[in-house]
Amino acid sequence: MQVKKAVIPAAGLGTRFLPATKALAKEMLPIVDIPTLQYQIKEAVDAGIEEVILIISDAKKDIIEHFKRNEAYENYLISNGKQKEAEAIKQIATMAKISYVYQHEMKGLGHAILCCKEAVGNEPFVIILGDDLIINAHGDNVSKQMIDIYNIYHNSIIGCQNVALENVNKYGIMSLKAPMENRIALLKDMVEKPDIDKAPSRLACLGRYLLTPEIFDILKDAKPGKGGEIQLTDAIKVLAKRQDVIVYDFIGRRYDVGDKYGYVEATIDFALKRDDMKEKVLNHLKEILLK
Ligand code: G1P
Repeated sequence: MQVKKAVIPAAGLGTRFLPATKALAKEMLPIVDIPTLQYQIKEAVDAGIEEVILIISDAKKDIIEHFKRNEAYENYLISNGKQKEAEAIKQIATMAKISYVYQHEMKGLGHAILCCKEAVGNEPFVIILGDDLIINAHGDNVSKQMIDIYNIYHNSIIGCQNVALENVNKYGIMSLKAPMENRIALLKDMVEKPDIDKAPSRLACLGRYLLTPEIFDILKDAKPGKGGEIQLTDAIKVLAKRQDVIVYDFIGRRYDVGDKYGYVEATIDFALKRDDMKEKVLNHLKEILLK
């Protein structure tokens, strides 16, 4: 079965970015001039996804507004000679079929995904976590890489990379049945945010999943885990006991844009990649270094 749907959880409060996120959805914080969520939706579209399901809460109306067509604004821009800007805001609203699912209680990532059961149906689907911005400048994006692997094996896939030992307590950490070959291996076990001295490896799940719909049955019966939340990690662990789950060491540079430092890192790197900004930003950085 083809992978046609992507789920992007965007209901979280974003407390790591207060006060900016008091009234503004954290997913709308821009890297230079594009909201992080728009990069994630573009990743899905570029990977061939037909429908993006956004999980939001009542407090995230700015997300709906951003991805809705606004012809009056487009016409205003056109009449003021701003064709390029008009095209840019039109493209936001037309690049994907977007549907919304509400998560009314913040009970964890596993709970958020369970909220999409009806919207996803009985199909494999991709999950893109908004805090993880992953760029592969010289090839297919991470979602496309995972869909290509799915098309060969038809198993669930967890996107991962090694992280520094001091950071293992921030992620779902995996152990493998056998060493990686050609960037893939089978998942043996997975633990959510282990203590540094108890981590089974440094292989961290970095915000990309491709899951078979069996995950919903597991999530339905899931009990709260780490932090009292329903953890997707715990459900994947159960899934791996029922069917093969592939761990994939993806190609790409990942930014933790849910973290203030990661956000600044992404902003600098993205600005340095833009023809309209590169020189100015580089000169500014040089000036700082020479001080
Ligand atoms: C979530 C998952 C975790 C995963 C991480 C990737 O944690 O629970 O397993 O490694 O995303 O960013 P969160 O960062 O939402 O606490």
